[in-house]
Amino acid sequence: LGTVKYFKYIILGGGVAAGYAAREFERQGLKPAELAIISKEAVAPYERPALSKAYLNPKGAARLPDFHVCVGSGGERLLPGWYKEKGIQLILSTEIVKVNLGSKTLISAGGETFKCQTLIIATGSTVIRLTDFKVEGADAKNIFYLREIDDADKLVESIKTKKNGKAVIIGGGYIGLEVGAAMKINNLDVSMVYPEPWCMPRLFTPPLAAFYESYYANKGIKIVKGTVAVGFNSNENGEVTGVKLKDGRVLEADIVVVGVGARPLTALFKGQVEEEKGGIKTDGFFKTSIPSVYAVGDVATFPMKLYNDMRRVEHVDHARKSAEQAVKAIKASETGKKIAEYDYLPYFYSRSFDLSWQFYGDNVGEHVFFGDNNPLSPKPKFGSFWIKNGKLVGAFLEGGSPEENKAIAKVCRLQPTVDNLDQLKKEGLSFATKM
Ligand code: FDA
Ligand code: NAD
Repeated sequence: LGTVKYFKYIILGGGVAAGYAAREFERQGLKPAELAIISKEAVAPYERPALSKAYLNPKGAARLPDFHVCVGSGGERLLPGWYKEKGIQLILSTEIVKVNLGSKTLISAGGETFKCQTLIIATGSTVIRLTDFKVEGADAKNIFYLREIDDADKLVESIKTKKNGKAVIIGGGYIGLEVGAAMKINNLDVSMVYPEPWCMPRLFTPPLAAFYESYYANKGIKIVKGTVAVGFNSNENGEVTGVKLKDGRVLEADIVVVGVGARPLTALFKGQVEEEKGGIKTDGFFKTSIPSVYAVGDVATFPMKLYNDMRRVEHVDHARKSAEQAVKAIKASETGKKIAEYDYLPYFYSRSFDLSWQFYGDNVGEHVFFGDNNPLSPKPKFGSFWIKNGKLVGAFLEGGSPEENKAIAKVCRLQPTVDNLDQLKKEGLSFATKM
């Protein structure tokens, strides 16, 4: 039997939430060798959103160590040396393959055993693969997914090898829209394929989507909607050459990037802990049903106080904030102090080309579009409000200034009454900025 490595605290996963949790531990007071982060990635925690944006730039691309956490929220950049200096063990390139939550024992693929007093689960999500649905030929070379830095490196390599080639993007969600734009900026001939009638259907309303689709089309991106990939053609080297669509068409392809969604990495804990809505169920302090086990970031299904229901959120702002909340709660429980329950206002954003949008709140109920969504406008600025039960609950804004974005966040938190939707449409953004 090998030796057991013991730590007071272990964070399982080395992504966004892990990095922000480490910073919070340090702020709250940490002794050397109390905390370990175990990650299957080979690098210290970094701001994952960069991978589908500046990491893919043809010139001046972002590279580590530029975007280690916590630069994405304007904080200090935690280089590997920071962890060393604070006595935090960064155990990298180490995949945990077995977990016993009751005894808080973790076993790695290499056979090492780790134990702790308090465990924070921060394993994030993994990509949904077309091979999961047995799509014919989906294991061909040059079909890429994007989750970790290794994936991004492979994609960057292929962009260099297939210079000016044809790229097909499968999926019209976040990855599809961001990577589709990045591939076009790299001078590839880009087509996007997705099954829905418009892109990003889980957030965009038709007038919002209409803008982005026209904007992308004006950049020369071909959009193929209402169909899916049912197979891939490949050459004698096993490299993808074409995407077969359900409607019978075949799109030529040198590179395929698939972004058809993510699924939280909870398999290691199945049957050991309560789950809800596909994630690990927590309270407003990110405590799970097992004592001294916390779950944060993409894997947690937590009480969304503002809407009085349980939600899972797959976005970076929540990964950061839930990690901080869990560490505050752990430290408070040790000293018998009380902290306030998590009270999260959802915040999502995306950037591509010269575009940049932010969304706050809940996209439910009726929606009211405002502003100028002409894709040929020099500086388009438009958005949408969502109104449920006579209250404004959600807001989206493209091209907003920092003050305007702050204003829509505030209004979604306040949830003012809206009596007249026509009046709201007329007022548009000023409804939020005047508050
Ligand atoms: P995260 O995925 O960051 O980290 C999980 C870590 O756990 C990884 O290091 C993984 O290797 C490790 N791990 C998992 N299982 C393990 C095991 N068994 N053993 C050891 N280690 C293990 N959001 C947003 O709001 N705006 C944006 O612009 C973007 N952009 C974006 C781009 C791309 C390419 C992706 C993939 C995602 C985004 N997101 C985003 C989403 C955002 O990045 C995501 O919600 C957070 O990274 C979630 O943080 P977590 O720490 O929960 O998981
Ligand atoms: P997503 O859920 O945003 O989009 C998935 C899309 O896949 C759907 O909109 C649909 O168009 C498409 N789709 C589903 N099945 C398909 C099929 N069989 N064929 C073709 N298209 C199909 O997921 P994603 O874009 O893959 O993103 C993965 C994860 O990364 C998510 O957690 C997301 O939140 C996160 N992410 C977030 C951002 C951001 O917040 N800006 C950016 C990148 C990634």
